Amino acid sequence: MLIKDGIRIDGRKPDELRPIKIEAGVLYRADGSCYLEWGGNKIMAAVYGPREALPRHIQDPTKALVNARYSMASFSVEERKRPGPDRRSTEISKVTSEALESVIFTELFPRTTIDICIEVLDAEAGTRCAGITAAAVALADAGIPMRDIPVACAAGKVDGVVVLDLTSEEDKEGEADLPVAIAPRTEEILLLQMDGHLTYKEFEEALELAIKGCKQVAKLQRQALLNKYKTFEVK
Ligand code: CDP
Repeated sequence: MLIKDGIRIDGRKPDELRPIKIEAGVLYRADGSCYLEWGGNKIMAAVYGPREALPRHIQDPTKALVNARYSMASFSVEERKRPGPDRRSTEISKVTSEALESVIFTELFPRTTIDICIEVLDAEAGTRCAGITAAAVALADAGIPMRDIPVACAAGKVDGVVVLDLTSEEDKEGEADLPVAIAPRTEEILLLQMDGHLTYKEFEEALELAIKGCKQVAKLQRQALLNKYKTFEVK
């Protein structure tokens, strides 16, 4: 049983997020960076670029290439992960690149590449959402012009209840997981994936809850950037 008297296994209510900590600009050599802790997840994101895309034949004369690479450290999961890319990380890298590219003004930087490294140091469910959230802060920290700062959060279904931000146990034992990334200003959906089964009504409820979660996380992203760049008190 994962929900008892309306309270989840880690003491949260169905619509509560896990604790989140975001810090912008933590790496000296990257153009932009972010360290994020989200529940049991610990993630470092670094941005390099825009810089000349090499070899030259990969260059696009009309826009920058956005190349996100999601990678899990061997020690980040319970059962040691073989180092290097696998099907799962290739898929997450692809959907992350596409979600982020859609808000970047890539046409301003033809023939270049913007590289985003997402390193999962500790994993506890929801790493793709945490990775996108961290990468977005790193992009802003690098000064990459964007229409909005993307943010991601998952909702799902556990013991028949629609809940926000699944833990590892809820992800494994629950009925559904719905990671969502949005551009919070316009509520445009940048990523939507689903594992498991939901009725249409539950899907609508979960999507709404995930978007609400995204908006809460977006405030923490902005605060992290303010903490790094503010030179005076914002009233
Ligand atoms: O992390 P996310 O929920 O975005 O992706 P997932 O494929 O649904 O993975 C769920 C969780 O399974 C991860 O966050 C990890 O905690 C765990 N996992 C693992 O233990 N070993 C792996 N090789 C991959 C994932």
